[in-house]
Amino acid sequence: MKNLLVTGGAGFIGANFVHYWIENYPQDTVIVLDALTYAGNLKSLNSVKDCPNFQFYQGDICDTDLVETLLREHRIDTLVHFAAESHVDRSISGPDVFIQTNIIGTHSLLKAAKKVWLEEGVNREIHRFHHVSTDEVYGTLEAEEPAFSEATPYAPNSPYSASKAASDHLVRAYHHTYGLKVTTSNCSNNYGPYHFPEKLIPLLITNILQDKPLPIYGDGQQIRDWLYVEDHARGIDLVIRKGELGECYNIGGINEWTNINIVKMICELMNREFEAQPILANRYPQATSVIAGKAQDLIIFVDDRAAHDRRYAIDPRKSNSQLGYQPQESFETGIRKTLLWYLENEDWWSSVMDGSYRQWIEQQYSTAE
Ligand code: NAD
Ligand code: DAU
Repeated sequence: MKNLLVTGGAGFIGANFVHYWIENYPQDTVIVLDALTYAGNLKSLNSVKDCPNFQFYQGDICDTDLVETLLREHRIDTLVHFAAESHVDRSISGPDVFIQTNIIGTHSLLKAAKKVWLEEGVNREIHRFHHVSTDEVYGTLEAEEPAFSEATPYAPNSPYSASKAASDHLVRAYHHTYGLKVTTSNCSNNYGPYHFPEKLIPLLITNILQDKPLPIYGDGQQIRDWLYVEDHARGIDLVIRKGELGECYNIGGINEWTNINIVKMICELMNREFEAQPILANRYPQATSVIAGKAQDLIIFVDDRAAHDRRYAIDPRKSNSQLGYQPQESFETGIRKTLLWYLENEDWWSSVMDGSYRQWIEQQYSTAE
């Protein structure tokens, strides 16, 4: 039985990971620490909030004393670190918070883990610090270049990826210098339920439902390697259970798509769904383009993102061979599940976008004990 501390568990991947873990390991204790920034949403944890082994704390990972207290009081043996500022565009317009959360925040967690696990000796022998990172630390690829392996040199291009790279280095250093038991995973682009609608796939779906433009940066020929979020959770689980201490594991789905083709595919799937389910036209009367079978008319080309990485692709051979990792969701089924989830959960996505979520949270929950 494990006692987990999950940072950032109210965000997109963190919440999906919490669902995954509680479903697969119901006997384990799961404590979530999340600051509930604009990207954190307690509604994403609604289905687990009454589980006896689950507890939520609102707080900042930079608060080292709070993290130490949680590690001690809940006898945490496994810390899974998702909390981060995660949106590249925001890191370009305002990098400071990325430095604070992703670098200083990760260092605060490492310091707390060292103090409680190594110096005080709580779970000294069996602890694990798992750091969730990204393929963006490797920089960008040309079309013909081989995919990123764990040996690819770091070459981050945005303030976001640079801050993640710095955090990866700190995690590594705490292993080599102090003997903290760490693992790191570097994953490609995730998609699935509870994804904040500023990121490409949920932005496309929710904009189609509101008949808003679908902005494509630059020429739309950039390539991303998409993975269903539950397959990421499964990969992290394998790294925690089977990964070698001090090692990094790339997680991906061998599923490269140009942005423009993703946009066209989602338009087509949405057109088909509205045709197949006439009731959707009543539920989303403002979605006039997709109701007419022409979601693609909403596509517009806009200025490119600064330092826009051309291509990401993951070479997953190490996690395949050493951990037995294989994604289980095909892109076809994963995208359809995602699209249907957004169609069924207007309450979730409209509330996180219009600010009413903030009012809701004040009424529903009190802050950390
Ligand atoms: P997200 O932005 O959806 O969620 C981040 C969560 O962290 C939010 O709940 C937020 O409230 C919380 N948070 C932010 N600052 C905090 C702080 N100072 N203290 C405590 N909590 C704080 O992000 P995501 O997409 O779920 O990504 C989670 C992790 O996975 C990140 O570390 C990201 O770098 C990494 N990652 C993401 C992807 C992807 O495709 N989204 C791919 C690979 C790796
Ligand atoms: O690769 C892993 C990374 O994937 C994670 O580390 C990041 O946290 C996550 O946000 C994601 O980064 P990207 O920048 O790849 O994701 P985003 O959804 O912002 O953009 C995907 C691609 O689509 C990218 O090439 C930019 C483009 N794009 C994005 C938006 C929001 C558009 O063309 N138009 C848009 O409106």
